[in-house]
Amino acid sequence: MQVSLRVCSLQDLEPGEGLRIESVTPPIAVFLTEEGTVHAVDDTCTHQDASLAAGWVEDCRVECPLHESTFSLLTGEVDQPPAKKKVRVHEVQIDGDDVYVELSQEAPNLPPGVTTA
Ligand code: FES
Repeated sequence: MQVSLRVCSLQDLEPGEGLRIESVTPPIAVFLTEEGTVHAVDDTCTHQDASLAAGWVEDCRVECPLHESTFSLLTGEVDQPPAKKKVRVHEVQIDGDDVYVELSQEAPNLPPGVTTA
């Protein structure tokens, strides 16, 4: 069964930046783009243990703060190494000021050494 979780309010988000949400496992990152769209992906890069919420957002992609791979906020696809696997994308719903996320049912592509336990 899919469940929508309220993860934050729109006021918690800054345009062009990500917000790490630790109340879910693994943590997710919620982004408000400069264009005003809201997206959610797993926060942990698929290459190593880096927080994508601390990355740079441009053209609906987030660039990992540790290396130069970028991930689509729409599909999770990665553009170039060192990351090779896509990041999971979660469905976002906005209700008034509240941001809800429906977590993906796919298995997360966590990097080596990072577990959900
Ligand atoms: S940790 Fe993200 S690309 Fe290396």
